[in-house]
Amino acid sequence: MRRGYLALRNELEGILSSDELDALPRRWQIIGDVLLVRIEGCEDRWGEIGSAFLTLFPWVKGVAVDRGVYGNLREPDIEVIAGKVGETFHHENRCVFKLDPSKVIFSPGNLKERTRIAKLGYGEVVVDMFAGIGYFSIQMAKHARPCRIISIELNPTSFRYLLENIRLNHVEDIIDPICGDCARLTPAGVADRVIMGYLNGSAYLEYGIKAIKREGGILHYHEAVPDKLYPKRPVARIQAVCGLLGRECEIKTIRKVKKYAPGVLHVVLDAEIT
Ligand SMILES: C[S@@+](CC[C@H](N)C(=O)[O-])C[C@H]1O[C@@H](n2cnc3c(N)ncnc32)[C@H](O)[C@@H]1O
Repeated sequence: MRRGYLALRNELEGILSSDELDALPRRWQIIGDVLLVRIEGCEDRWGEIGSAFLTLFPWVKGVAVDRGVYGNLREPDIEVIAGKVGETFHHENRCVFKLDPSKVIFSPGNLKERTRIAKLGYGEVVVDMFAGIGYFSIQMAKHARPCRIISIELNPTSFRYLLENIRLNHVEDIIDPICGDCARLTPAGVADRVIMGYLNGSAYLEYGIKAIKREGGILHYHEAVPDKLYPKRPVARIQAVCGLLGRECEIKTIRKVKKYAPGVLHVVLDAEIT
């Protein structure tokens, strides 16, 4: 049986009213042994809904309502509604990620993009400017084997998990972690490939583009783009910064990663910078 909405509804039949049953969430995400869910309203029923999730997914140890991520450090705002939420181990693409979903983010919606990136960069120097707990860096190091990945992260909590994940995945020989602001710490002229995985990172394009070697390289630039500005705005932003820096750029692909918010897309552009 697929443990989806119908199974959840079944579990709560006779406990919730039919209106409350109709309003139950259709989707949720499981990170390690933590289940995160967005629930509209029904606050007085969250305890029952949380317990039903624990019954449906016996390996889950804690259930929390996800209210989104905030600030430039992308800190989650969650409320635990059943069990316990704390450090957990999430497995993806034969990599393991240790994290506490109440303190740092992990976006299952970006899985396809992480899988794509994990195949790129063999033998290259890569700069991962907003590395988080190693979402891209670890998978790339493990599968594509670049010669070096410089992974920069500002949030000290995420950085601590990045260090642990490097060790857990045995990629100490490839990843050089740096804690701090990538506006100050991104090295210039070293990279064959740069990942800018922060959706509000347009102000950092200058540093991402400068990091790419003079002989050329690839920029993977993520942005949250209102539907109406897709695909023009991110293309124009990259072109404008290249113009100011005297660099050439050719946009290779533009992909929709996921719907980020109503009317807003998470997109990634691959641009060749020379
Ligand atoms: C959205 S998260 C990373 C997401 C990840 N790349 C992915 O796609 O799943 C963005 C990260 O950038 C970090 N960050 C924000 N501003 C930064 C800065 N100026 N320098 C370095 N890291 C920064 C945040 O702390 C956060 O961990």
